[in-house]
Amino acid sequence: MTNNPVRPARVDEAEELTQIAVRATRNDGYDDNAIVRFMPALKVNLSLIAAGLVFVADSEAGVPHGYVAVRPAGIGGLILLEGIFVDPAHSRRGVGTRLFATAVELSRKMAGNVILINSSPSSVDFYARLGANKIGATPFVFSPDVQLSMFAFAIPPSGEHGVEAVRGGRSS
Ligand SMILES: CC(C)(COP(=O)(O)OP(=O)(O)OC[C@H]1O[C@@H](n2cnc3c(N)ncnc32)[C@H](O)[C@@H]1OP(=O)(O)O)[C@@H](O)C(=O)NCCC(=O)NCCS
Repeated sequence: MTNNPVRPARVDEAEELTQIAVRATRNDGYDDNAIVRFMPALKVNLSLIAAGLVFVADSEAGVPHGYVAVRPAGIGGLILLEGIFVDPAHSRRGVGTRLFATAVELSRKMAGNVILINSSPSSVDFYARLGANKIGATPFVFSPDVQLSMFAFAIPPSGEHGVEAVRGGRSS
């Protein structure tokens, strides 16, 4: 992975992005039946792409390695993290952190001050490392046997270090 800029997603690559989400979820240990149940949450939302709210991290060769999607909640400065997925073949190289930093920048442009995250069990350490605070738990709506951790990430004022501090020192 290089430091290629994270870029807006295109509608014509929606299926490719959805397959990244499927692979990332399967890599967390979920079987085919679970993937079918989770599909509404894994399928990238075309209207969010059209609204410019989905961003993709590419390889140097232009192959998507992950994406992030956000959505304003419509309440004050609250932004919802709709999804963040990194292809497991490229995990732990800073791609997720760069995508989250993009979500923070985008949220700031939308006058957001807090990003609300429903985290899968395997992603809890990722969000904690980014500086998000656990505020509760909720059953996953598409599979209530799975408990999601709710995190709030306070968006730092422009110019202050937030996610960037976590990214420091990475070459990916
Ligand atoms: C969670 C996810 C987006 C992280 O992407 P990533 O590119 O691997 O993350 P990064 O490389 O930026 O990781 C940054 C730090 O987060 C933490 N972290 C990330 N993944 C972790 C894991 N599986 N277990 C423990 N810590 C983890 C580590 O501290 C890591 O730093 P390190 O590699 O130097 O130790 C990715 O693993 C993923 O797509 N997971 C499956 C789908 C999912 O659960 N998405 C979130 C839905 S809520």
